[in-house]
Amino acid sequence: MKRIEEPVLLVVFGASGDLSKRKLIPALYHLAYQNLLPHNFTLIGFARTKYSDEEFRALAREGIEEYGPQGIDEHVWHAFSQGLYYQSGNYDDEKSFQALAARVKQFDTERGTAGNHLYYLATPPEVFASISTLIAQVGLCGMGETTKSENGTHRLVIEKPFGHDLESARKLNEHLLNIYAEDQIYRIDHYLGKETVQNILVFRFGNGIFEPIWNRNYIDHVQITVAESLGIGDRGGYYNQSGALRDMVQNHMMQLFALTAMEPPVSFDAEPVRDQKVNVLRSMRPLESDAAASSVVRAQYGSGVSDGREIPDYTQEKNVPTTSVTDTYVAWRVEVDNWRWKGVPFYLRTGKAMAAKVSEINIVFKKPPMLLFKNVVKDERAPSNVLTLRIQPDEGIRLSFDAKRPGPAVNIGRVAMEFMYSDHFGKQPAADAYERLLLDALVGDSTLFIRRDETELAWERVTQITEAWRLEEAAAKKKSKQIKLPKYAAGTWGPNEADELLARDGRYWRNPQSVSLAR
Ligand code: BG6
Repeated sequence: MKRIEEPVLLVVFGASGDLSKRKLIPALYHLAYQNLLPHNFTLIGFARTKYSDEEFRALAREGIEEYGPQGIDEHVWHAFSQGLYYQSGNYDDEKSFQALAARVKQFDTERGTAGNHLYYLATPPEVFASISTLIAQVGLCGMGETTKSENGTHRLVIEKPFGHDLESARKLNEHLLNIYAEDQIYRIDHYLGKETVQNILVFRFGNGIFEPIWNRNYIDHVQITVAESLGIGDRGGYYNQSGALRDMVQNHMMQLFALTAMEPPVSFDAEPVRDQKVNVLRSMRPLESDAAASSVVRAQYGSGVSDGREIPDYTQEKNVPTTSVTDTYVAWRVEVDNWRWKGVPFYLRTGKAMAAKVSEINIVFKKPPMLLFKNVVKDERAPSNVLTLRIQPDEGIRLSFDAKRPGPAVNIGRVAMEFMYSDHFGKQPAADAYERLLLDALVGDSTLFIRRDETELAWERVTQITEAWRLEEAAAKKKSKQIKLPKYAAGTWGPNEADELLARDGRYWRNPQSVSLAR
């Protein structure tokens, strides 16, 4: 990759927060280390907390030391830290934004950033609207310009959560699009910055042998698992309002689903790729409210041990009411009504406090039409051919198949062909997702960001489920009853109800045997 030519000024709103310290600053520093940032790269951190430039630099350094992929190189740090500044202010106060604008303009001249600005909203969502308004009000944005003008380029990166349901996502979109053009808005989903997620497209469309069998003629069903071993820790305040469906399914899991199920784009550019993702989201069969009960399982973790850590019952977590019915686990049977997938269910599941932290996509192929070796196959239910795309950890791909065990009798053993990233591309951990996404936003490539229609469609599907849940809860309340969610013990693969969801179709979940793909 080449260093960015044009100087850019980045303003990070919410710069005193966790995301900035853990992810954004270490990612930017690592880009600087690889010589990928422009000369005179300038960052202004903006947040309510009062810091001097020096204090902010110290905070940034701490973040890099603690969370960066490697230690500090003093030479790189020196140049990088000279471009870090801080401005404190309120997110809804015009005066604070005027002070910010004055500083931005000063750097545009002094540091040569010449009006090229990227605004990163790493704040709670309640202030997205006021920040985006005030940026424009104080003259810091190009007011809906779509191409580079004499005044430079102006882009806006919006962190998650982008809305809470369909209505709020639409409202936020309308608000933003009153001020900015769609191609100035970069809605982030950090899963798209992961190498293994981008590789889904390369694997499917860069090879000749997979695409012809990637359809209902050969595939029995698809499973997408995003399991986390930790509980919610001290994020109770946020998480209890959100739950697994909103926190993980609406965004990350929908993206994994869309990339796995979409049609080939005509080119690997932002619009063709996003058009195809939108098409497949549109083809998801909408759920009627009674179908939500039979196609979706929500559950909550009970106490247990995961990854050697004691985890309390969800309702005993900090900032969670004891009566909470928030989902910490969701399994969803998705049907896709198009020529490629008709009749091939996609089973999506995600949860906190599960047996391991592991994300993978399993493409389960149909069995041979005639079981020639029926009496020597150990488990007739077990599919012979499964293609596993391991997203994380131990990134890799595995294809399993049956083979004859050497010997005079016909005995069959399950074997696999495997590719591990670490074997082929070195042991260096892949760049953090934020590195790639920040770089793309800086150069104006929106392929890996979410378009308006995409986010609204994903919300539309998810809101059908939350609406069904809401009605269920309201009906119970009317009878003075309380909904009881299925429970699963922390450190397990989820509730029995999710197993039943697949058992009804004569299938079962493929739980990664161990976190390592290879063994
Ligand atoms: C975030 C969610 O978007 O993704 C978290 O808010 C979750 O709850 C995280 O833990 C998972 O990301 P990753 O990259 O660790 O799989």
